[in-house]
Amino acid sequence: MKVTSICCLGGGYVGGPTMAMIAAKCPDIQVTVADMNGERIDAWNSDSLPVYEPGLLAVVASARGRNLHFTTDIRSAISSAELIFVSVGTPTKSHGIGAGRAADLRYIEAAARLIAEVSKGHKIIVEKSTIPVKTASAIKTILAANSSSQATFEVLSNPEFLAEGTAVADLENPDRILIGGEITPGGNAAVEALAAIYARWIPRDQILTTNLWSSELSKLVANAFLAQRISSINSISALCETTGADIGEVARAIGMDSRIGPKFLNASVGFGGSCFQKDLLNLVYLCESFHLPHVAEYWRQVVHLNDWQKSRFTEKIVRALFNTVIGKRIAILGFAFKKDTNDTRESPAIYVCRDLLREHACLAIYDPHVDPNTIRRDLMHAGIPKDLLTTNLEICSDPYTATTGAHALAMLTEWDEFRTLDLPRIYDLMLKPAFVFDGRAVLPTHTLKTHGFDAFVIGKGD
Ligand code: NAD
Ligand code: UDX
Repeated sequence: MKVTSICCLGGGYVGGPTMAMIAAKCPDIQVTVADMNGERIDAWNSDSLPVYEPGLLAVVASARGRNLHFTTDIRSAISSAELIFVSVGTPTKSHGIGAGRAADLRYIEAAARLIAEVSKGHKIIVEKSTIPVKTASAIKTILAANSSSQATFEVLSNPEFLAEGTAVADLENPDRILIGGEITPGGNAAVEALAAIYARWIPRDQILTTNLWSSELSKLVANAFLAQRISSINSISALCETTGADIGEVARAIGMDSRIGPKFLNASVGFGGSCFQKDLLNLVYLCESFHLPHVAEYWRQVVHLNDWQKSRFTEKIVRALFNTVIGKRIAILGFAFKKDTNDTRESPAIYVCRDLLREHACLAIYDPHVDPNTIRRDLMHAGIPKDLLTTNLEICSDPYTATTGAHALAMLTEWDEFRTLDLPRIYDLMLKPAFVFDGRAVLPTHTLKTHGFDAFVIGKGD
């Protein structure tokens, strides 16, 4: 089966970039991204994309209007597609059974019901969203129970491994593509049809095919391993701070062991993003559901350590500022959960800012790409009352305004532009003693000290 028309339900951080790359690489395949969020779709159809991602506009522009389309007409998009990616959100459940751990699958279920209702003929349904193992079975049941007799389906799992900020490079040159399907003639044919799309630009030996459950589970496990690595290095950062060891040096020393490897060993104020915590909690819940409490507890610790890392950073600030930050201006540099994205979901900055505002500090926040309304919304959702946001929050358009008259500077995102800050100028603008708390280890510790700052850098002892 050669696929000539694709649709993707969900035009978010995954659906939009992934489909743009497929359309750019396969000009003969019609690709439609369908989302009920009209604002998002309008943005995808403009030059101001809803997702800030280096290089993405060029990819979108190369195919948009030719074979890449963005629409809110979800039914028509489903109807005309031979292959449908489901790339809707799978957040953590906020209430009911499994609240705070289990994945909320309401968008997956709604998508499956709509596909069943609209479809005729044969369609391949591809889980792109990250979901608990065995979700394909639920999707199949919903499709079978709700579709007309003329419709037939194959369900595949094809998790996405892109990281935000490097999405274009990750999609263009992924470490691997993973496709899981049923081991039946129909399942094998569907797997081959999807593999043939990726094979247009990715070497065949990097396209792995597995059974459905291995593919679904591998995605959760990959994120769990990556997050575990960060919690591991962050736990050692605390030990470095008390012993005088330097986490950068330790990371380098262990990373040169080829069995450990050098990547993902940057100590930080904690990991954020929409995936790691959600997927770890999902894994914990799955283990509990399958009566594996020891396994659940093991992975839960990765989240606990991350929570501790965020709160100990805030505590460090409060203690250093003579145990009170009431009314003190603190410049926050960076609000996104990592550099090169405008995404703030689960950003450690939200929690550090929330806790400082609870102490009644006055925050002056600067981030080069995060919308000020997003910052206000995130802090409100984190429980900060509106009146405190009016009196104690300023969103600044550059780092120098933010640091003017500040008691302290807290570095929370590793944007490249922060590496070349004019530190003597900032020192002059700040109140003395001028405190710096670098939660990303991007500033040169020694230089900070020679310029007169009282500096704390994550993972570096005095
Ligand atoms: P997102 O919230 O940015 O986008 C999801 C979109 O789906 C929203 O725009 C929403 O309006 C739309 N939607 C919901 N129901 C729909 C329906 N029935 N039909 C059409 N559109 C619908 O989410 P995201 O970050 O793109 O993540 C999507 C999935 O991919 C999640 O399961 C996530 O865990 C996974 N994932 C995310 C990343 C990442 O870096 N963000 C990476 C890998 C995997
Ligand atoms: C992650 C996975 O990397 C990706 O494969 C998956 O598809 C989605 O989840 P993402 O969350 O976009 O991607 O970014 P990632 O680069 O993994 O960073 C996640 C968080 O960990 C960020 O807050 C980042 O700053 C932090 N991090 C990362 C560290 O603190 N130290 C590191 O060494 C690496």
